Amino acid sequence: MKIAELSIPEAVKELVIKSGIAELYPPQEEAIKAGALEGKNLVLASPTASGKTLVAELCALKHILEKNGKTVYLTPLRALANEKFEEFRKYTTIMKKDDRRIRVGISTGDFDSTDPWLERYDIIITTNEKADSLLRHRAKWMDEISLVVADEIHLLNEAERGPTLEVVLARLMQVNPDMQILALSATINNVDEIAQWLKADYVTTEWRPVALKEGVLLQEEIQYKDGDARKIEKRTRDSLINLVLSTVKTGGQALVFTSTRKNAATLAKKLAGEVEEILSKPAKRALEHEANRILVAGERTRLSESLAELVKRGTAFHHAGLGGGHRRIIEDSFRQGKIKVLTATPTLAFGVNLPARTVVIQDYRRYEAGYGYYPISVLEYKQMAGRAGRPKYDKTGEAILIAKTNDEADYLIESYVLARPERIWSRLAVERILRSHVLATIAADFAHTENGIYEFFGKTFYAYQYDTQAIKGIISKILKYLYDEDMIEVMGENINATKFGKRVSELYIDPVSAVIMRDALKRKPDLLTDISFLHMIAHTPDMGPVLRPYSREMDEVTVFMEEHKTELLTDVPGEWEDRIAYEEFLGEMKTAMTLKAWIEEISEDELIERFRVQPGDLYRTIENAKWLLHATHELTMLFGHKQMLPQTQEIRQRVEKGVKKELLPLVKLEGVGRVRGRIIYNSGYKTVEDIKRAPIEDLINLPLIGPRLAKKIKEQLGGFIKKEAWEKLEREDEWKQKALTEY
Ligand SMILES: Nc1ncnc2c1ncn2[C@@H]1O[C@H](COP(=O)(O)OP(=O)(O)OP(=O)(O)O)[C@@H](O)[C@H]1O
Ligand SMILES: [Mg+2]
Repeated sequence: MKIAELSIPEAVKELVIKSGIAELYPPQEEAIKAGALEGKNLVLASPTASGKTLVAELCALKHILEKNGKTVYLTPLRALANEKFEEFRKYTTIMKKDDRRIRVGISTGDFDSTDPWLERYDIIITTNEKADSLLRHRAKWMDEISLVVADEIHLLNEAERGPTLEVVLARLMQVNPDMQILALSATINNVDEIAQWLKADYVTTEWRPVALKEGVLLQEEIQYKDGDARKIEKRTRDSLINLVLSTVKTGGQALVFTSTRKNAATLAKKLAGEVEEILSKPAKRALEHEANRILVAGERTRLSESLAELVKRGTAFHHAGLGGGHRRIIEDSFRQGKIKVLTATPTLAFGVNLPARTVVIQDYRRYEAGYGYYPISVLEYKQMAGRAGRPKYDKTGEAILIAKTNDEADYLIESYVLARPERIWSRLAVERILRSHVLATIAADFAHTENGIYEFFGKTFYAYQYDTQAIKGIISKILKYLYDEDMIEVMGENINATKFGKRVSELYIDPVSAVIMRDALKRKPDLLTDISFLHMIAHTPDMGPVLRPYSREMDEVTVFMEEHKTELLTDVPGEWEDRIAYEEFLGEMKTAMTLKAWIEEISEDELIERFRVQPGDLYRTIENAKWLLHATHELTMLFGHKQMLPQTQEIRQRVEKGVKKELLPLVKLEGVGRVRGRIIYNSGYKTVEDIKRAPIEDLINLPLIGPRLAKKIKEQLGGFIKKEAWEKLEREDEWKQKALTEY
């Protein structure tokens, strides 16, 4: 089927054809035949890279241009939201009937806001969590949604993030019963169930743009699913390395999935030396450039140096321990074919578009503390395997498992290569997870009686798969908890949220975190310090995994805790009475210590070394701390602890920027982060007034500040620079222009 023949506006056809797509892929054709463009609800389950996004794009444009509708595109990850935003942006040149251009917006941050500005957008890309928070604020524009696209809907199966997606869809269906639903999924076993839940039809295909060969490598021989076999050259004693090298030597790229971050880093180091030997000169030059980009992205650390070293040799690793800036550079240069080999943890298998000719699964087992080793699911294996094959570059892709013995090879063929993916199951019925959804159902006016609440949860995927009865017990236990903690009040049949309950729901925190905060803020410690607040937030479940002390740090952390005992807003568990709680508490202490060091302007490199924390975990901890300190400030206000407000305000701002108090006014300037702020301050410009008075040449002479940034700073302070003066300055200092990122 040709794009030109579709019943979509001409302007859309032109743009799509201009982007290089003239004909639909078979799964797209099937989706159109199933009524996707006629407003029918549809689940499209189809392999990786089979073009599911285009179906969503065409649907969205049809809604906007022909029905004046509004589309929300739900993704499970911020990185994916960014990717989709870039893809949809090409349509902003098209005019709508009212003579204005199509507007595409993205909203992924700040959970405590209705983002009213989104009302102006025709397509809004967001994460499931952000959509959930918007629904809790009852953002008005959400009633106008006429199409919702739920991408990667097989994520319903994930314990942490699945329930949010399920609740968001159930709520949207309740608010907009006439809205069209388009759900996109990897190949799964029970598409029919998801479709029935969403009152949708479904299309499943196995079609792939590049053929996939799955197999198992034993020593130097690959056994493929179709009975084929292939020998690879033995260059080293490690057969995984030999396989990767055989791909790179023939002009391909390899993606190796490892079970842990540590394995990803170790394996990349091992591979780099071998890969380097087969790189061409021009390839090396291009990599040199990428390595430099890594070094200038953010503060320089030993980790960025070792990553840059690997990149020079055509290899890199990718996992959640890396900072976002580095991850993006690595993804881009892998996509451009510069990096030849990437080792990664399985998170990369979800959604982000990073295909490679050869996908290797180093280890089909995972380790979980207290549980031991267990084999990964077929669904997860298929997700990883599906990454194989770059359209336009590879004729076939191959996905290879590694076996050590004949028996293991047989087992892998049987249990993964030939196996069908499992059914997916709702993960909603867990008290910890349901708690905040039950509160939100009441606080955001989705239901006001116990029966109303059951009725709402009766519309979830959980209720479809099991039945509401199974979840009732947990809900009524949660209602009792919310009542005991004054988050809801009951009058006859009616249940309403208290002010506290309503605010907790909007702040998007776990009710248990809110109770911890409320009780802590009532305490009157001898001394109320940064540590009081930093530890309190680390003590809430919303902080996520705390930074655990290593054995050699134990003494230091314990001493720190003793020193600050009188400042704490929670009790210290008995060291011998409750060992588990005590160790957890030491982790909270270490988290507080790390955050304290961050706001004392300790460099990122030193933080990483001193606390042995990886950048990604450091950034995650800071992000969570920002959000929880916002909640702390809001609850302090709600409970009328006026005398504390200046302190909660200050600590929140300091954590956001990672600075001492004296730098706060300076880092409000765009382009000035903690490093530059400190340079400016130490050069004698201690206030915004000082900077305003300083001649621009003096600012330019400071390290890390070029003419362009100096100009930007001056302009923010109401200054103006003459054109001739500016041109002269700009010529003088080409070099400094390069470091314009904020740090
Ligand atoms: N009809 C087509 N002809 C040529 N290329 C296409 C066509 N449709 C989509 N593509 C291209 O295929 C690539 C993959 O498409 P897309 O990202 O939609 O995959 P997907 O099905 O969503 O996969 P995943 O499961 O990985 O999310 C994109 O680069 C897209 O531009
Ligand atoms: Mg997709």
